[in-house]
Amino acid sequence: MKTNTVPRDTLRQIQSKAKEQFGLSAVSSRPAELYRKLVWIAKQQHIEEVDEWLHMLAQQPWTENLREQVIPAFTVGETYFRRDPNASEWLAKTFFRQLIAKRQQSKRIDCWSAGCCTGEEAYGLLFLINELQPADFSVNIVATDLNREFLRQARAGRYRQGSFRSPAPDFQERYFAAEDNDWVVLEKWRNRIQFEPLNLIEYKPPLGHAPFDLILCRNVLMYFSQDDACKIIHMYMRNLRDDGVLLLGAVDASLAATAGYHGFWAGDNYAVWGKTDASNPRLSLTEPLSEISNQVLSSAEPTPKIRPLSKTTEAALASPKRPSVAKPTQAPVPTANLQQQLENPALSRAEKASICIELAQKSQRENRLDEALSWLTEAVSIQPLNVRGQLLLGQHYLFTQQATLAADTLHKAIYLDDRNIAAHFYYGQACQQCGRAATAIKALQQCLKLVQDLDTAKVIEDTGELSAGHIQKLAEQLIHSGVTYAD
Ligand SMILES: C[S@@+](CC[C@H](N)C(=O)[O-])C[C@H]1O[C@@H](n2cnc3c(N)ncnc32)[C@H](O)[C@@H]1O
Repeated sequence: MKTNTVPRDTLRQIQSKAKEQFGLSAVSSRPAELYRKLVWIAKQQHIEEVDEWLHMLAQQPWTENLREQVIPAFTVGETYFRRDPNASEWLAKTFFRQLIAKRQQSKRIDCWSAGCCTGEEAYGLLFLINELQPADFSVNIVATDLNREFLRQARAGRYRQGSFRSPAPDFQERYFAAEDNDWVVLEKWRNRIQFEPLNLIEYKPPLGHAPFDLILCRNVLMYFSQDDACKIIHMYMRNLRDDGVLLLGAVDASLAATAGYHGFWAGDNYAVWGKTDASNPRLSLTEPLSEISNQVLSSAEPTPKIRPLSKTTEAALASPKRPSVAKPTQAPVPTANLQQQLENPALSRAEKASICIELAQKSQRENRLDEALSWLTEAVSIQPLNVRGQLLLGQHYLFTQQATLAADTLHKAIYLDDRNIAAHFYYGQACQQCGRAATAIKALQQCLKLVQDLDTAKVIEDTGELSAGHIQKLAEQLIHSGVTYAD
């Protein structure tokens, strides 16, 4: 096998073709890593002239066969059983319990695991529904993925110990048979799921299965560009029943909000009801959790506690009645009054900046994003050393897809206060989005350090009421997601 040094341009051309064909914009972005993966594929395929093959990949249209050959270079096979146990608890105790009660006539449940990888998520779902024992129900689960080799492994249902890294009593013994060093899904479960190839970038559901009661798409959308991910979310929403739910991984929560859907935290996942209409894109995670939860509760039965929530939310959930949106203890100061106060020459710079921030937050809540931006800009020009002003301005840039500006601004916030958890958390995301992988990882690790000794239920300021536990989970997922951007 002959290889020389392949020009970066060739690899970049291959990358942009992969983005066009599979939508994957964030995987193997580092040329050296992509090169290593492609050389490995060439070796498997007994291709002698590797560099020629790479040039051909860069220059010529990809046939079906070529596409299949290169897909493993762009797909990440990281998955395991019971990956999000709190979300499973929400599915079992709340969602399916209600759904089974509502589907007593049709006696069917339709689910889709999108980006199912080697099948752990789909089998896990089947086992979970089985444990609820919905008598005489037909449970239809379709599981799709781009990578046919992953699907082949999923159909075979053979797993190594690494797939069971989230332990549960008796789980392996109940559903698997031990064979050599592997665990194989028992025959009676193996043919209960339809594993089908499907490329999400075609924005279509698997043929003949929609509409769905549940769509799982976890740890998949983060590999797509924000625009493509939003289009995929719209496609999911078109194919959900009104009382169905879309469940996204925690790292994808902000994508749902960017696509204009208000969801809620279902354990460690972010969920959106089928009947949710897309509104204007909002500043996603800055939305207080209590409001999100209340919104959901107004259309659902009281929900059991799944993850640590803020005191307000917890109190609201504990209430036997459906809670109304939490009212601020003090009456809000009208905008006009705040603006008048700004004219007061006796005010210090710090006081003026904090009024501007208040006005910005009011504008954000009312979805007037341009106005919010101008108040935040004013706050930091009145008082450039205002940490909160820089932090909120940086968040604003991040959620309006201006990653470079976001990174610069959040960096200032960190410079002013290097113990600010939110600043490190959002700076890490901004750096990831603008391709500064090493800096992103450093920022997220710093964020983990700062939350590690906190009570997991403690709400972290300026994160839209995310708890320390939640920030920890999100930061870990961002670090370990396998997303590698060019630095
Ligand atoms: C990290 S795995 C997630 C597996 C599982 N959902 C979980 O949360 O454990 C991401 C999966 O998305 C699949 N994928 C990536 N791009 C895709 C595309 N364009 N269409 C369908 N699946 C895709 C990959 O092949 C991979 O199996």
